[in-house]
Amino acid sequence: MIHSHPRISKAVIPAAGLGTRFLPATKATPKEMLPVVDKPAIQYVVEEAVAAGLDDVLMVTGRNKRPLEDHFDRNYELESALEKKGDADRLAKVQESSDLATMHYVRQGDPKGLGHAVLCAAPHVGDEPFAVLLGDDLIDPRDPLLRRMIEVQEQRGGSVVALMEVAPEQIHLYGSAAVEATEDSDVVRVSGLVEKPDPADAPSNYAIIGRYVLDPAVFGILRRTEPGRGGEIQLTDALQQLAADERIGGPVHGVVFKGRRYDTGDRGDYLRAIVRLACEREDLGPDFRSWLRRYVTEEMQER
Ligand code: UTP
Repeated sequence: MIHSHPRISKAVIPAAGLGTRFLPATKATPKEMLPVVDKPAIQYVVEEAVAAGLDDVLMVTGRNKRPLEDHFDRNYELESALEKKGDADRLAKVQESSDLATMHYVRQGDPKGLGHAVLCAAPHVGDEPFAVLLGDDLIDPRDPLLRRMIEVQEQRGGSVVALMEVAPEQIHLYGSAAVEATEDSDVVRVSGLVEKPDPADAPSNYAIIGRYVLDPAVFGILRRTEPGRGGEIQLTDALQQLAADERIGGPVHGVVFKGRRYDTGDRGDYLRAIVRLACEREDLGPDFRSWLRRYVTEEMQER
């Protein structure tokens, strides 16, 4: 069944969290600005939205918003200095982030949770389905996920979450989904969701990761959602209500992702992302890989 609704064109990127796991680096800088090799994590996320056809990006920011806005804006002083030097390569790098998408910003004020951050996007989004990309979740550009989620939303209507199978002892770090198979092997029907469950109460090992395509009915629910786990207004709690009653905003489906994903808000995953992406880079990779090989075989064995 094909549902007729407007083509999805808007991406919302919540980036107003406190980033406490990365203190002190995040004391005066949003964690989304931490570099992954030589680009801030957030630029990968905006590039992913654009690659999936979403060129209207709303960033939900909080304190320390300046670096985020400045990064996606022109920097004439730097541009003219590079022009004078005739450094076309670096000039292109500086201009790349300001030419990517039409950027909009809204401030969350109090960081009252991810659900509250998404609700701040309501006036900009209006009455259309939209995508949400978490600023600290990095999906490898070679493993397109968002495009598939948009396709599933266009085919089936309602909302679509991204799911990834994790080890049972990891599920308490995520939202967990109760699922039923569909005729598409990478798509499941989501019948319930629990935020950060104890492993014994988790409906499955399918964890929700930071990509969503949402029906605008989620805004009405978020307005009524009370603070949940951690005293925060949880997006998962609102999605649970959508999943429990499809008359509200259509069904909730999950796209099962088997590709490479890094949680750059977690220090270990952040380091792994940098090593992996640096190894694969054409410019840095050859030297870095041979250093890494030497480091692992020689120096690590002494520990
Ligand atoms: P996290 O759960 O990673 O929280 O938020 P955090 O505050 O950013 O980081 P830690 O746990 O203290 O280290 C998930 C996503 O939701 C956004 C964050 O910016 C992140 O992208 N968020 C969270 C908001 O925009 N507003 C909030 O009130 C909470």
